[in-house]
Amino acid sequence: MPCICCLYILHVVSYLYFMLQLEECAVHLWNWAVTKNVGNNINKNQKAKAVVYMQRCREMLLRLPKETAYVSLMCYNFGVDTYQLKKFEDSSFWLSQSYDIGKMNEKYSPGSEIQAKILRLLATVYLEWDWQRFQEKALNAVSLANEESISVSGLYLKIRILLRCGAPDDHIRAGLNEMLQSDVSLEVCLSTVKLLMSEDREVLGFEYMKCVCLHFESSPDLGSALVLHIELLLHRGKELLGKQKIEDIITGHYTGKQLTPQALSRLHVLLWDKASRHFETKNYSESLQWYNYSLSFFKAGQIDPNLAKLQRNRASCFLQLKQESYCSAKEAVKEAERCDPDSIFTQFTVYKIAVQENNVERAPKILQHYFWSACCMDKCVFVCVPATAWNSALQCESSPDRMRDFFVLSYQASLAQLCPPDRTILMGQKTCLLMAAAASLELCRRSPPLTQTEELTQALEHIQICWEVWKTLKASGSFPLDPTDTLLLLYEFEARAKLNDPKVETVLESVLELENVETKVLETIAALAMESPAHFPLLCKKALRVALSLHKKQPQTDLSRCSKCVHSLIKLSLPNGVSEVEAHVLEEVWDYYEEALSIITPDDFPEMETLWLLTRAWNTGILMYSLAQYPEAERWCGLAMSFIRHLGSLRESYETQVQRNEPFLSRWAGEGEGSNRGVFVALEYYSKARTLVLS
Ligand SMILES: *[C@@H]1O[C@H](CO)[C@@H](O)[C@H](O)[C@H]1NC(C)=O
Ligand SMILES: *[C@@H]1O[C@H](CO)[C@@H](O)[C@H](O)[C@H]1NC(C)=O
Repeated sequence: MPCICCLYILHVVSYLYFMLQLEECAVHLWNWAVTKNVGNNINKNQKAKAVVYMQRCREMLLRLPKETAYVSLMCYNFGVDTYQLKKFEDSSFWLSQSYDIGKMNEKYSPGSEIQAKILRLLATVYLEWDWQRFQEKALNAVSLANEESISVSGLYLKIRILLRCGAPDDHIRAGLNEMLQSDVSLEVCLSTVKLLMSEDREVLGFEYMKCVCLHFESSPDLGSALVLHIELLLHRGKELLGKQKIEDIITGHYTGKQLTPQALSRLHVLLWDKASRHFETKNYSESLQWYNYSLSFFKAGQIDPNLAKLQRNRASCFLQLKQESYCSAKEAVKEAERCDPDSIFTQFTVYKIAVQENNVERAPKILQHYFWSACCMDKCVFVCVPATAWNSALQCESSPDRMRDFFVLSYQASLAQLCPPDRTILMGQKTCLLMAAAASLELCRRSPPLTQTEELTQALEHIQICWEVWKTLKASGSFPLDPTDTLLLLYEFEARAKLNDPKVETVLESVLELENVETKVLETIAALAMESPAHFPLLCKKALRVALSLHKKQPQTDLSRCSKCVHSLIKLSLPNGVSEVEAHVLEEVWDYYEEALSIITPDDFPEMETLWLLTRAWNTGILMYSLAQYPEAERWCGLAMSFIRHLGSLRESYETQVQRNEPFLSRWAGEGEGSNRGVFVALEYYSKARTLVLS
């Protein structure tokens, strides 16, 4: 009779034996996972094998029930991978396996929340695969998921499926009620309303919107629902109803029921949008009414640049409404001057009023005033504010075409002067031409591709005349700290790059020759080199490399901007697929990685960047692996691993996972595209597939 001890040892040995077998199965399955997108033939064979191994795993689970969750998770991970590759049939297979395995043993199953998650993904797979064929299955899966564990995503998914299948209103209404009863957030309800609208269930959408407003009546964020309601009404041409709701909000505003600042600015955007549309169709009184609504939310005497702009727009409406409105126009522009007296836009409106009033005497004076304020701006604004801020000031004004015409006209008016141009006039001319060029570039950004060339050519003309004016000015004295050279070069670079003009390279050379060129300028150049329709990756990289070297020379290196440069350099250089893998390209990327490693040491390097670098290096390794270049694959995966020690909080979670020997579990962290998902995938591959690389 064997002693108790021997029995025990026998038990342990057989347990270990099964564990090893299970482990082996898992490794085989991982082989499949790593190679599954290599090629169709391999894939088919591998998949058949994977299915066999999975069956063996299932049988073994009867002996090793504790591993139930582990095997279920592994199947789920395959389900996720194949779903992302859009292999829906495979994905539905693995997800069903995952769910069934989870059901095999109540005690060791991954738990009902996770089971629900598996089912939700399964329902999504059916929906995206072929919703007409599988609508029943999709609905069953999501209903089962909600039975396992009720959740917001489950409820929302159910509505999505019902809508996709064109279910009758009653069914959808039941789902919507279920949502309200389950205390989902206002935000989710509003997304659901938008979903209903986008699926053309307008009646149901408005009905639900009303229920939601009632349900959240005392919520502090009710305003966001009210504003969305107005937005939907306006988009569907229900202006009268929309106006009623707006007037309700205005009444509420004066009786202690103010909107949150976010909801209020959203409402202003809607109102201004409506107003400017009516202005464009020349319905000025209607336009004025929408601006008046917006005005209701400002306090008397408030100083706010938006109020200045609003008053200028109101003045423009009054002006168009002719005689009887000049007084109101003047009042409005007076308000605008109070809020923002130095704005050339305000001065422009004053000028327009004077011209329209036939105030011939006053108009030239105002034009002088305009030049004066333009010169003022030249000195203070241009010196302190970089080109981008200047551009965005332009973007704010709704019609760059009118702005451009105005500046061109002003420039031409200054040419008509009898006396020889003095310094002030030349400065004014320079400003006008710079503004006209900027407005043309802005117009180009907003126009359809066909008319872009025209705008760009015009911009280039303004730039060239401006260079002449600027040369004359510079000959008359020095202008320390004047950024005109930089601005002109930036504008010229943008225009030529978008015109696909090879001279753009010389412009970059001139930028690099500037004294004390700023990194910000180089970064802007880099962005412009790739802003559609421009496509100059080599120039972009050149600018970035110089920017990076300048950053590193600074006494206090700005790590986040350095990391952005390195990021862009790597992104631009990494091969986009098998056909682009060349040794010299990889060497270049490798050098950028070394740059990254050289700056990464201090603590405040952005962690998400480290993750990004790690993942891209890892994926390059995997790419090399799939091309059977094993030493290269090792080198890149090793590089990726060297970033792990720079991870902060994420590193800890990685390490605990390794200790618990549950590398797969991390996959549950996020249902969607979690930003750290990539790295965990990478780490999993590392911990499981490494043996593969070596064997
Ligand atoms: C202006 O718009 C309103 C509302 O859309 C409309 O009722 C009115 O007839 C329009 N007026 C003109 C002059 O087009
Ligand atoms: C807008 O408000 C002004 C007074 O601030 C008023 O004179 C004008 O009639 C209003 N216009 C419309 C269309 O509501």
